[in-house]
Amino acid sequence: MKIYNAKDYNDMSRKAANIISAQVIIKPDCVLGLATGSTPEGTYKQLVEWYEKGDLDFSKVRAVNLDEYKGLSKDNNQSYAYFMRKNLFDKVNIDLNNTYIPNGLEEDSKKECERYNNVIRALGGVDLQLLGIGGNGHIGFNEPGQAFEKETHCVELTQSTIDANARFFEDKELVPRYAYSMGIKSIMQAKSILLVASGKSKAEALYKAIYGEIVPSVPASILQLHNNVTIVADEDALSIIKEKGLL
Ligand code: PGA
Repeated sequence: MKIYNAKDYNDMSRKAANIISAQVIIKPDCVLGLATGSTPEGTYKQLVEWYEKGDLDFSKVRAVNLDEYKGLSKDNNQSYAYFMRKNLFDKVNIDLNNTYIPNGLEEDSKKECERYNNVIRALGGVDLQLLGIGGNGHIGFNEPGQAFEKETHCVELTQSTIDANARFFEDKELVPRYAYSMGIKSIMQAKSILLVASGKSKAEALYKAIYGEIVPSVPASILQLHNNVTIVADEDALSIIKEKGLL
């Protein structure tokens, strides 16, 4: 695992965007695994800036997202499909036909999970998977649990995730209770993984993910078994690791 210590959120965003843009330059038709949430917003903003300057071309890039709330349409402004268009897809020259995200409106979970697994397979795997980390150690919506879920599955969100995401909704009651998420096996099959983390609220999860036991109660801990993981985290997210003299 390579760990890059960013000064602050902006520095983290620029470093992460540099790694993604290198991937796009080296392999213009790469498959990017993308993530939503507050943490990658700055990364996407930086990529858009470099695209506008003419430094990046997304015309052949394929993008597959980690997760989507079950029950939200792609036009709902809290859906992850909407987030991706607002933060990246509508601002660069990616072909929307080459972008994939679970369909939140599909009620039949088995059918949607199978469909999405086939999408991931047909793409031939992910070249670079971007990940955030939840304060509870989740990656995608792979919540802490008894076992690592392998492929796309329908998740009942934990209370801590519902509480963390309530800030985006007018009313906590409106936060969806279920989501579709790519599984741990699909994430681990990515050729390379880039995890971004910012803020004190991520410090404990990050410490456990990198230095703790590999257990499904800390889903991100599985990343210790991947041979090409890069972590870009700011001072606050690395604070516990640094206090313990590990970095
Ligand atoms: P955040 O979410 O970037 O909004 O903190 C990250 C995550 O929960 O994976």
